[in-house]
Amino acid sequence: MERTPLIRKFDKQAPHYEKRRKEQTQKVWRETLLRSPQGHVLEVAVGAGANFPYYPKHVEVTAVDFSPEMIRKAKEAAHENGIQAKFMTSDIERLSFPENSFDTIISTLSLCGYQNPSAVLNQFNQWCKEDGAILLMEHGLSSHPLLSRLQRILDSLAVRVVGCHQNRDIMQLIHASKLIIEKQESHRLGMVHLVWARPQKGMNSIPILEI
Ligand SMILES: C[S@@+](CC[C@H](N)C(=O)[O-])C[C@H]1O[C@@H](n2cnc3c(N)ncnc32)[C@H](O)[C@@H]1O
Repeated sequence: MERTPLIRKFDKQAPHYEKRRKEQTQKVWRETLLRSPQGHVLEVAVGAGANFPYYPKHVEVTAVDFSPEMIRKAKEAAHENGIQAKFMTSDIERLSFPENSFDTIISTLSLCGYQNPSAVLNQFNQWCKEDGAILLMEHGLSSHPLLSRLQRILDSLAVRVVGCHQNRDIMQLIHASKLIIEKQESHRLGMVHLVWARPQKGMNSIPILEI
């Protein structure tokens, strides 16, 4: 999908995401996931700042989203919650940071939106420091056969209306990426996953010896 219509689609949803932040929907999952962010945090696809109420106050955040309206709401949320954050209005799929830039990378409900979620997961691997953490709360295809069938049928409609895929097998995507999963919880008939992961480093830096 072309970027501008997709960004507009999310711009229009910004008031809805702000309302959800204020109502603290998914509070228990967000609290559980976000107990331990440390140091310099990258939050991708920050939306209206739904995670900011749960961050410890000492972290320094870089928050990215390609929707200017979402960023506007997220700035208000950072201010309300006393979070020190720098904001970037950018497309995560076209963005690059130097290797090992962040202590913690946070992504909640974002893998449903990317064109190439596998490539984004592998970027997290690169951007996260070796002893850092990657914290994910993602939704996708249910483990319930009837529900997953319905999700597959409704996928193209969901993409057209809200810009999010419903038919992604999130755990398969994460398992196939370079990330190392340390802990995982699944909820809502296997549609929602909380994942605590760490990067896998070193494989590419082993020099090949010529004999
Ligand atoms: C379903 S919302 C989730 C927002 C927030 N993370 C949350 O947990 O409520 C998806 C967000 O991802 C953003 N997004 C989608 N694709 C993106 C991309 N390629 N680059 C940056 N932001 C993106 C949208 O603008 C939107 O704010």
